[in-house]
Amino acid sequence: MTAMTDEIVQYSGPERVFSGVQPTGNLHLGNYLGALKKFVTLQDSHDCLFCVVDLHAITMPYDAGQMKNNTRQIAAAFLAAGLKPDRAVIFAQSSVSAHTELCWYFNCVARMGWLERMTQFKDKAGKDKERASVGIFDYPVLQAADILAYKATHVPVGEDQKQHLELSRDIADRFNREFNAPGFFPLPEPLIKGPGARIMSLKDGSKKMSKSDPSDLSRINLTDDADTMARKIKKAKTDPEPLPASMDELSERPEARNLVGIYAALKGCEDQAVLDEFSGQGFGAFKPALAEVVIESLAPVTKQYNEWLAEPDAIDEVLAKGGEQAAAIANPVVAEVRDIIGFWRKG
Ligand code: TYM
Repeated sequence: MTAMTDEIVQYSGPERVFSGVQPTGNLHLGNYLGALKKFVTLQDSHDCLFCVVDLHAITMPYDAGQMKNNTRQIAAAFLAAGLKPDRAVIFAQSSVSAHTELCWYFNCVARMGWLERMTQFKDKAGKDKERASVGIFDYPVLQAADILAYKATHVPVGEDQKQHLELSRDIADRFNREFNAPGFFPLPEPLIKGPGARIMSLKDGSKKMSKSDPSDLSRINLTDDADTMARKIKKAKTDPEPLPASMDELSERPEARNLVGIYAALKGCEDQAVLDEFSGQGFGAFKPALAEVVIESLAPVTKQYNEWLAEPDAIDEVLAKGGEQAAAIANPVVAEVRDIIGFWRKG
């Protein structure tokens, strides 16, 4: 390795968007608002890649017999949400070996201390971290490799991914400096802001809506039918107070704030606009209105999702073509990385 450089040279390549979703079960409203809905908007303005991150999904116990279908399900959800294969590259992570190769190089750039600070590892490994897979510890390094294999500059994600994105920036910066390759990798920017970045559980406003919550009533799945969605909203935890006139007055009412946030995110308006409409009304009035908006927004997605799932060959075609397009971008980047690192190759 050569001496570190302090020179700061900005990345000057084109803007590119990358994001990933794990094939680990049903997608929910949090995934839709925090990620998928943003992906769909970005495909019109940016060069985009959206990846089913199956390599990440094997860091926790999983069923190998289900993996292929789980991958197809996420691809189907991307397509149902509105992604178009002629506008965005849709592919499976494991079909492009550049991810794992770059991950190894980054393993030698990232520091143990950086990974030990990752809160997601602490949450997922639980108390018994001795028994956690090395993969779950290394998860955020693979995430950095996903993004940087494409020199992606922007990464739309929910708020829970903020720390992982900071790590990706640290890895990119350290690589550029350690190998005297100023500006080689961009420092990818998270696109988190906006409504829907942090959708909370319907049962506990202090916990995020999550695939792994044991209670199905805590989340709205994209596969739920209209009656189930309405029932879950009806049963959502709230309080007896009516909705106030300003968001400040919701600071101690996390469940109420969450429901207002969901309504605003789906309608594409400010939280305050929702209060302007419902201030003074109780949840007896607000919940049915919310259920209507949720159903109206998700029903077409659910319908298309089921239609795509009935055509697994069509999904496979999208993934296969996407894999080729992704590899055509990532392979030359990784070849350059090999040269920068100084590996032998036949001249
Ligand atoms: P995953 O599959 O856990 O989550 C997929 C996306 O959904 C967002 N999300 C939420 N947004 C708002 N409210 C919620 N309650 C909520 N729950 C989940 C997540 O922030 C994410 O954007 N580590 C990533 C997968 C990944 C990735 C990448 C992302 C792997 N490599 C490279 C971006 C770039 C994850 O958590 O996926």
